[in-house]
Amino acid sequence: MESAVSSSVAEIPASGMAELHIESRWTIESDAVDQVLAEEYGADVAGADLTPPKDPAGLRAKLRAGAPQLAAVTDEMRRLFNAGACGVMIPSLGLVHLSQDRRRKSVFALSALLGNPTETEPDNHRVVWDVTPAPQEERQFSKFSQAPDEAVYHTDSTIVPIPERFFLLYAMTQASCGGGLSTLRDGRHVIEVLEQSEEGRRAVKTLRETPLPIRIPKAFRRKYGSTASDGYSYVPVFAEKPMWRWRKDKIEQGLVKHPESETPEVRFALDTVAAQLADTSNEMRQPLPTDGIVIIDNHVAFHGRTAFTDTNRHLLRIRFHDIDESYEQSWV
Ligand SMILES: [Fe+2]
Repeated sequence: MESAVSSSVAEIPASGMAELHIESRWTIESDAVDQVLAEEYGADVAGADLTPPKDPAGLRAKLRAGAPQLAAVTDEMRRLFNAGACGVMIPSLGLVHLSQDRRRKSVFALSALLGNPTETEPDNHRVVWDVTPAPQEERQFSKFSQAPDEAVYHTDSTIVPIPERFFLLYAMTQASCGGGLSTLRDGRHVIEVLEQSEEGRRAVKTLRETPLPIRIPKAFRRKYGSTASDGYSYVPVFAEKPMWRWRKDKIEQGLVKHPESETPEVRFALDTVAAQLADTSNEMRQPLPTDGIVIIDNHVAFHGRTAFTDTNRHLLRIRFHDIDESYEQSWV
């Protein structure tokens, strides 16, 4: 079969974000994707209601058979991650002519080919999450995904035992105000820079060796447990899987609740990493255009977003574990 994708490993820039251009011939496979999902979830299932597949490998096999060109796209993404990318962006996925429901299903299928999609949170089993501003009183779960404010550098799912390795963002509607730019820093590069100085090495050592308290919300505690009786778990900011577990606001909240954990060394280490993240010299900062998609390696990359005012901005987000990673974990 003729390849529908083009990219070059040599083109992975210093930011770690590779760009992939594809021909959208695979979108003719949208019918096949729909059919596979109808077999799995029932004929009437809406893209917004899709839940994590019970048999991710089985679904993957069916999608590979039914949508080989989409599988070729995800194979190329995989190759780029294997070659060292910490993010892959496709500026135009080719879905604009499809209904919103079809777009949700196509993006879901893409995630299911790359890994094992997870639910957004334990009380809401839906996989596809709408990232769009909600009125203050209706915001739930996440401060970042339902607000138009800046999202400073962070990693996702820091409150689960093993955060998903990947997440994707697909732009239904790009912000027209010039804001809402996506930002990315390669966490491996951040470490490299830190390890060049005595202070940086000290900070990394502290964050590797000192588990810090993070509050596990009730719904997540019911599912994953926690390592302490007050609903907190103690985890290192810097480890192997993930390399970084960084939600600075939640780390700070944990230290307020457990001031005994805020030693001068911990404070120094957190401030040192924050200062390094403020250096934008190797970051990617660009809009995700309408119909564009980005997949981020959440185990190594930091990501963020600039503030925006256009309330029509609308992205879809799906998180997924890597294929060979355990689907469910617990803290204890
Ligand atoms: Fe995020």
